[in-house]
Amino acid sequence: MIRPTKPSAIQPVEPALDIELISLFPEMFDSFLRTSLVGKAIENRIVRVACTNPRDFAPGRHRQVDDSPYGGGPGMILRPGPVADAIEAAEKERGRAHRVLLSPAGRLFDQALAKELVGRKRLMLICGRYEGIDERIAELFADDVLSIGDYVLAGGEVAATVIVEAVARLIPGVLGCAESTEDESFTAGRLEYPQWTRPPVFRERSVPEVLLSGNHAQVAVWRRLESLRRTQARRPDLLVRHPPSEDEQALLSGTSRKRRKKSLPQT
Ligand code: ADE
Repeated sequence: MIRPTKPSAIQPVEPALDIELISLFPEMFDSFLRTSLVGKAIENRIVRVACTNPRDFAPGRHRQVDDSPYGGGPGMILRPGPVADAIEAAEKERGRAHRVLLSPAGRLFDQALAKELVGRKRLMLICGRYEGIDERIAELFADDVLSIGDYVLAGGEVAATVIVEAVARLIPGVLGCAESTEDESFTAGRLEYPQWTRPPVFRERSVPEVLLSGNHAQVAVWRRLESLRRTQARRPDLLVRHPPSEDEQALLSGTSRKRRKKSLPQT
């Protein structure tokens, strides 16, 4: 599962981030790890990814990894033995990792957590499946339990890819432009301002004039305001958690007067 890498003089000896996936379906990660930003980071040896399958540690001819829940109820629960053995085998091979169990019952993963996880040298993402995973895995192994949102997936694999991408793109050198992660949604509790590219008119819709003006100071103010307006309209909860500064309040009230006069369209 570790991708073959092309030799190059500029490749670092040690990856900036070593990711260990514990999953019953390693093939779910194949195209994700070969493609785009994460694929490039692996190719350039900035990120290393390995996957260990609990099924390889399951006993018996059928290598059964699940069983019915104590106390009754629907579905099957992942047994602790094969998962524990997979975690321990991976760490014996590659060293202790910060272990994250993926579960809809975890704390919510967000940009702040992505920034925290990028500081870990080794990160282990433990993917549950079926109806759940024996609670002793969380008790005995997990340093954290994370959910990617308030919905239930069939397993932790998709959640793990979300976390890998959100974390990997924060590693210096993974994104082309050093500033790209600074000026974006959630970084300051605000959604990102809208963006446009050529052509200047598309299906009768024009790019806002200020962006064609070449006036960088005006563009910066306009973007800040659009970011605030968008946050207010789509994610008012972010404004409660990160209340507008005096500057932002002035910006908002100043424009609402202008907006009434010119009746600008809503973003
Ligand atoms: N497994 C199933 N649903 C999940 C979710 N929302 N987040 C993380 N892991 C999950």
